[in-house]
Amino acid sequence: MAAAKSCDAHASVGLSGVGVELAVCQAGCARIGCMPSTFESSAGSVDEAVVNDYDTFGEAYAAETETSLINAYYTRPAILDLAGEVTDRQILDAGCGSGPLFEALRGRGAIVTGFDSSTKMVELARQRLGDTAALQVADIGSPLPFPDGTFDDVIASLVLHYLEDWTAPLAELRRVLRPGGRLIMAVNHPTVFKLLYPEADYFATVKWSEEYTFSGQKGTLTYWHRPLHAMTDAFTAAGFRTAVISEPHPAPGARERFPDDLGERQAFLCFLFFVLEAV
Ligand SMILES: C[S@@+](CC[C@H](N)C(=O)[O-])C[C@H]1O[C@@H](n2cnc3c(N)ncnc32)[C@H](O)[C@@H]1O
Repeated sequence: MAAAKSCDAHASVGLSGVGVELAVCQAGCARIGCMPSTFESSAGSVDEAVVNDYDTFGEAYAAETETSLINAYYTRPAILDLAGEVTDRQILDAGCGSGPLFEALRGRGAIVTGFDSSTKMVELARQRLGDTAALQVADIGSPLPFPDGTFDDVIASLVLHYLEDWTAPLAELRRVLRPGGRLIMAVNHPTVFKLLYPEADYFATVKWSEEYTFSGQKGTLTYWHRPLHAMTDAFTAAGFRTAVISEPHPAPGARERFPDDLGERQAFLCFLFFVLEAV
């Protein structure tokens, strides 16, 4: 099986959800960009004040991801497939970014509310979605400004992997869902971290960072790797039942649109998708 581009053991592997210079390595993981990446076994040197600064690079990020393989032909179609029929469902888009999923869900008949911790991203979402869209600035790590049981579904696409501790965020997402409601989410695939850093402890919860260039603008994203069992344990502890774990293929048309990136591959490792049911 031919790889689109080579990927050495310590090549930077982008899991941010951007499509910058994406290739698929021999191990089948998505590789984006070639900027320095680092990981550390405990919180330390990375300056939290300047990482994940969507207020600064949000516009460039939104432009980059509008049509990218990883976002437009992989993550968003996978989330929408998992959501299925959403007409008249009350849906919360947590960490909505510039609102592409909000827009798609609304177009399918859902009643959507969105929030994001970045003022810039909410501003971009407002431009996309219009003045009447239910949007606000809020942090998924803090108590959310919604009553108990408000939503049929919560979407958390490429957000939770920025957080070290999922306990409070998952409890809040569970609280705002009605019983039987669904949390549909995507996070960095934990296997990819081990492929990237064979010397790292897969079983540890570990912070790692990577620099990207979004539409010509540099930015650093910092993630928290955790093993799969830590994810599923956290879901159970927060009152969710894991209904689906998905490793989707890219959407139809991806191969024709991105032949150099995909080559003959049907699929690649990048994110892991879950459907969780509120019990
Ligand atoms: C990779 S983007 C994904 C955007 C959107 N969910 C999507 O899939 O297109 C991550 C978004 O999460 C937001 N975010 C990061 N940490 C957050 C937090 N603690 N609370 C709310 N939003 C957060 C960022 O501002 C950014 O807009």
